[in-house]
Amino acid sequence: MDEDRNTQPLRVALVGTGAIAGIHAADLRAVAGMELVAATDIDPLRLRDFAAQWDVARTFPDLESLLGELGSPDALDIVHLCSPPGLHREQALSILGRGISVLSEKPPTLSLTSLDDIRAAERPGGPYFATVSQHRFGGRAVWLREIVRSGAFGRLLTGVCNTFWYRPDAYYDVPWRGEWANEGGGPTLGLGIHQVDTLLSLVGPWDEVVAVAARRARTVQAEDVSHAIVTLSGGALISVVNSVLSPRETSALRLDFEHATVELDHLYGYTDADWRVTPAPGSEDLVRAALVDGPHGVPSGHAAQFAAMVAAVRSGGPLPVDSSSARSTLELIAATYASAFTGARVRAGDIDERSPFYSSMEGSGAPWPHEAPAPPL
Ligand SMILES: NC(=O)c1ccc[n+]([C@@H]2O[C@H](COP(=O)([O-])OP(=O)(O)OC[C@H]3O[C@@H](n4cnc5c(N)ncnc54)[C@H](O)[C@@H]3O)[C@@H](O)[C@H]2O)c1
Repeated sequence: MDEDRNTQPLRVALVGTGAIAGIHAADLRAVAGMELVAATDIDPLRLRDFAAQWDVARTFPDLESLLGELGSPDALDIVHLCSPPGLHREQALSILGRGISVLSEKPPTLSLTSLDDIRAAERPGGPYFATVSQHRFGGRAVWLREIVRSGAFGRLLTGVCNTFWYRPDAYYDVPWRGEWANEGGGPTLGLGIHQVDTLLSLVGPWDEVVAVAARRARTVQAEDVSHAIVTLSGGALISVVNSVLSPRETSALRLDFEHATVELDHLYGYTDADWRVTPAPGSEDLVRAALVDGPHGVPSGHAAQFAAMVAAVRSGGPLPVDSSSARSTLELIAATYASAFTGARVRAGDIDERSPFYSSMEGSGAPWPHEAPAPPL
């Protein structure tokens, strides 16, 4: 980025003006140093309403025409992908090919092979590919990452990482949801990725996973629940549940360190009040002292990630969450499917080009019929 641009707001274009796009627009407006200058959606009415609501100056009927006019680093700094997940690979490659960085909504891609294709199109110094994982960026997560780095709470021994959400059959009426080819998987990929990515950003990397998945109630192709035991490289055992069947919803992390239990209970975003720290007997003073450190009052959310992105662009580094870090999370998810569908323990590094789970989360096939069952009458 040249010197002049370094003092100007980052020019953002947005692809896909559906449900999550409004959060991007609102948080781009709230964060200093970013400006939404263009948008595209194949649905012209949705695009028109979105542009009117958020004062977007330029709209385009498709990504190709947007890139035809604005597809150079002289015109755009970042394109946000808020499109269905099955489109992220092709769209990211088109944008990176124009020298423009990409921030993609989760999941970054449907498979490791697609993410590796994207990573091959990144260049040192940019363009970069980054993924939305907004719960990494709340103040208490930043605090806990520093506590873990310093070793203040001792070794992590065990924990849980739960996504107990509720999605009725109607949620799957959106054409891309629930199908291997378009959504890529069920809650293990599409929803639990938030908590799993936050977990790994705090206490990763991971070594091994043993998992079970099932389709119990929803009329979809993919799983509607999975349970996994993940062994982290530091030795801790973490239980991970991903569910769309759970009427009392919660997103929860629990981390039992030698000197304290740290818990986070929220749903789609947290504040400081959603965290609880319980000292081990004899560690009360240590925990009390640690709690005053680090940022307070910064909720998790896209705004917190966008602020971190502005800082990264200004310093010329990769954008958070960078593609290498996103790959580790996606690899654990692929390994969870591989373990659930083959019965094997799957270690980090096992899923390479020879594995069917490298190119698809469905891999060698789920232990239930590929087609979704008929919906109840
Ligand atoms: N980070 C979060 O908390 C969060 C929450 C919800 C969804 N998401 C992710 O955001 C993405 C979008 O989800 P959503 O719920 O907003 O979906 P959505 O279906 O509501 O919106 C997708 C939009 O993309 C448009 N679109 C489809 N094909 C297109 C194309 N070729 N070019 C341009 N636009 C196209 C559709 O018309 C639609 O308006 C998904 O990857 C999803 O997983 C993230």
